[in-house]
Amino acid sequence: MIAPSILSADFARLAEEAAAVGARGTDEPGADWLHVDVMDAHFVPNLTLGLPVVQSLRAATDIPLDCHLMIDDPDRWAPGYAEAGAANVTVHVEAARDPVKLAGNLRAAGALAGLSIKPGTPLDPYVEVLRHYDTLLVMSVEPGFGGQSFIPEVLDKVRTARRLVDTGHLKLIVEIDGGINADTIEQAAEAGVDCFVAGSAVYGAEDPGRAVAALRASVQRANPHRWAG
Ligand code: DX5
Ligand code: ZN
Repeated sequence: MIAPSILSADFARLAEEAAAVGARGTDEPGADWLHVDVMDAHFVPNLTLGLPVVQSLRAATDIPLDCHLMIDDPDRWAPGYAEAGAANVTVHVEAARDPVKLAGNLRAAGALAGLSIKPGTPLDPYVEVLRHYDTLLVMSVEPGFGGQSFIPEVLDKVRTARRLVDTGHLKLIVEIDGGINADTIEQAAEAGVDCFVAGSAVYGAEDPGRAVAALRASVQRANPHRWAG
């Protein structure tokens, strides 16, 4: 799956920017998810957009929304994004007070429940918690800004998660976010990522739709058997 991040899009033209990565017929399926970075200037040192924009975007595109909440007190705020119709709502484990209960609330509101870990946060203490989640978002940059360099060390966590999924201990989509581009996506694919978030590599390109197709082709090249069909 490819999930372009609108953090690198033109915020004054979000509907058009979503359309730019949409399907262009059966040969070019387009983005699987549209990644929406919600930042509150507390959990991260940046401020982006919130629920009203997500509600408007939901009405403006058919692409399922993947909301990544880099905010304090997600226990209070995250279910609203699920109620707004986001397909997946991801919260940070470093911010959540009761991540198990929160996952239940997100699912009850009709969304997939996602848990994200920052580059310096270990995976092992959260394996039990992750049994309640549908997606794991491994951050490969410090959250807060687009256009940063990929941190390859996080791929060890991806490999661990992949193994836990493949052996049936966890059942979730392994997602990676930060610094994904033509140079880094293949190593992430080989480590076992299912869903690739890319901001500047998509919206910094001349043709965002073509950039999505190129990233997808790189993933398929990296691991043709796993991705066949
Ligand atoms: C960073 C955000 C990312 C960001 C990625 O905090 O979570 O989703 O948009 O941007 P790139 O792909 O440019 O690293
Ligand atoms: Zn993100």
